[in-house]
Amino acid sequence: MLATSTIALALALGAQSANVQKSGLTLPASAAANKELVHQTFLTGYNAYRQFAFGHDDLAPKTRGFTDPRNGWGASIFDAMPTLNIMGETTLFNEAVTFARGVDFSHTKTTDGVSFFETTIRYLGSMLSAYELTGRNDTALLANAKRLGDKLAVGWAGQKVPVGTINFNTSTPVVNGGANSLAGAASNIMEFAKLAQYTGNQTYIQLADTTMRTIATNPNTIFPGLPPQGVLPNGTGSGTQVSWDGGYDSYLEYLLKYGRITNFKDPLWASTWLTAVESSITNLLKNTTAQNRTYLTSMSGGIHNYGMGDLACFAGGNWIMGGKLLNRDDIFQLGLKITDSCMATYATGSGLGPGGWGFAPTDAGASIPVAQQAFYNQHGFFITSTDYDVRPEVFESAFYAWRATGDTKYQDFAASGIRAIRSFLNSTVGYAPLNDVTQSVWSLNNQGNDLESFFFAEVMKYLYLMFDDPSHISLDEWVFTTECHPMLPNL
Ligand SMILES: *[C@@H]1O[C@H](CO)[C@@H](O)[C@H](O)[C@H]1NC(C)=O
Ligand SMILES: *[C@@H]1O[C@H](CO)[C@@H](O)[C@H](O)[C@H]1NC(C)=O
Ligand SMILES: *[C@@H]1O[C@H](CO)[C@@H](O)[C@H](O)[C@H]1NC(C)=O
Ligand SMILES: *[C@@H]1O[C@H](CO)[C@@H](O)[C@H](O)[C@H]1NC(C)=O
Ligand SMILES: *[C@@H]1O[C@H](CO)[C@@H](O)[C@H](O)[C@H]1NC(C)=O
Ligand SMILES: *[C@@H]1O[C@H](CO)[C@@H](O)[C@H](O)[C@H]1NC(C)=O
Ligand SMILES: *[C@@H]1O[C@H](CO)[C@@H](O)[C@H](O)[C@H]1NC(C)=O
Repeated sequence: MLATSTIALALALGAQSANVQKSGLTLPASAAANKELVHQTFLTGYNAYRQFAFGHDDLAPKTRGFTDPRNGWGASIFDAMPTLNIMGETTLFNEAVTFARGVDFSHTKTTDGVSFFETTIRYLGSMLSAYELTGRNDTALLANAKRLGDKLAVGWAGQKVPVGTINFNTSTPVVNGGANSLAGAASNIMEFAKLAQYTGNQTYIQLADTTMRTIATNPNTIFPGLPPQGVLPNGTGSGTQVSWDGGYDSYLEYLLKYGRITNFKDPLWASTWLTAVESSITNLLKNTTAQNRTYLTSMSGGIHNYGMGDLACFAGGNWIMGGKLLNRDDIFQLGLKITDSCMATYATGSGLGPGGWGFAPTDAGASIPVAQQAFYNQHGFFITSTDYDVRPEVFESAFYAWRATGDTKYQDFAASGIRAIRSFLNSTVGYAPLNDVTQSVWSLNNQGNDLESFFFAEVMKYLYLMFDDPSHISLDEWVFTTECHPMLPNL
């Protein structure tokens, strides 16, 4: 723990943290055409959404390729907003901003409760990012972000940890008792810090800071820096699950990223993140018996699950970022290794990765399904969940790896990825998620009904920026939220 506290202290005393991006990075000749291909893919998908579901996501017919069910406020419009700005789509961006300024957050259009987590990262995050991307003078957009923030703040309900669901009509938390998840409760400090910064109301950051600080200082961890995934209203941990996967992921992500947007003024965030990574290296990181891959496993009740979900692949980019910023080459190298191992899961019939996989670790016995033994020997993983729900995390980590190393293998990976998206997610209109990534022939029957809004916020933005001028939205000037909305590290 000595190295951890030394680095955190150095940063607290004002040492410059290092850059994430490799200096002098230049794009290969192939990048321009690939960037255009991503741009056109985005426009095809977004225009299909505009034509059939604009602002009425929940009301749209459940036809393949253009619905998203997030309370009827037009999640795709919000989530697309920063991407439209970055792609220079001025007319579509202005249309989206005009829409976002005018959405009435006093009521939901659906009978569902409002997810505190999803609404924070998709709606609040996108509005604050668009506000920063356009020079921080759009008072109407900020005013609507504030109205949404006031509704979401109800979720804290006098507790240290917010509830998972809110009734917006009555401005009351929906308490179904018990624990929230770490990710659900503690992936909001970037958004609420920005809301406090621009509105001047410190309550927003105080609420989010209390949650994050209570969790980060929880003495009853499973491993140092890794509390259980469940978290009670008073911040006490619940259960025994630890992982970098869904339900846990963006809590760990925000320890580093909130540290970065506040320039590591408070050493708690970076030191807790480093402690969590060190515990993960010791306890969760495992190498495969075939093909020399390295994956992050999960544990429950002290028992390993030798598998990983695609969501956990964000860790590759997160460790690359943290390894660079905190001068930890060992963590940086492992971030690259996790990224490469996640990229290897895209060796499927469609060229897109599965939602989950397993493997046999080098240090323990684990059985491989007989039917997948040959596949495992060849690839170093076997598939446990065949779907590709337009998840961005593997492209995200490849993007960090590209900007940090300049290795063109990441360009090649993204170039194959955008082609696979165009060939297998193309639907009757726009794009749709894939049920079975192992199928190598396009089929409507292999597609799901709902296109998540993070297709526009994350998949398209990471792929576009992969092929864009590295000085545009540089990782040394912007920090991405968990929904890939860029924010300025100026706190
Ligand atoms: C909120 O109110 C609207 C009417 O304004 C209604 O359509 C919707 O179902 C209500 N939602 C909830 C969760 O009560
Ligand atoms: C913000 O400032 C820019 C640059 O001065 C200007 O072009 C833009 O119209 C302003 N936006 C708003 C919403 O006032
Ligand atoms: C600041 O925001 C909190 C949370 O929404 C709200 O309760 C409070 O009234 C606000 N304070 C001011 C001065 O607007
Ligand atoms: C938190 O709440 C739980 C459940 O009510 C309780 O058992 C525990 O003692 C509380 N912890 C603290 C530190 O207050
Ligand atoms: C697992 O692989 C990583 C990266 O190649 C390496 O640094 C580490 O030492 C390996 N661990 C074991 C237990 O072999
Ligand atoms: C496994 O990969 C690591 C780097 O990722 C490399 O250093 C090591 O030599 C490889 N081991 C084998 C047996 O290929
Ligand atoms: C999607 O692309 C595949 C591969 O190019 C093609 O076979 C299929 O007809 C396309 N589907 C639609 C609905 O355009």
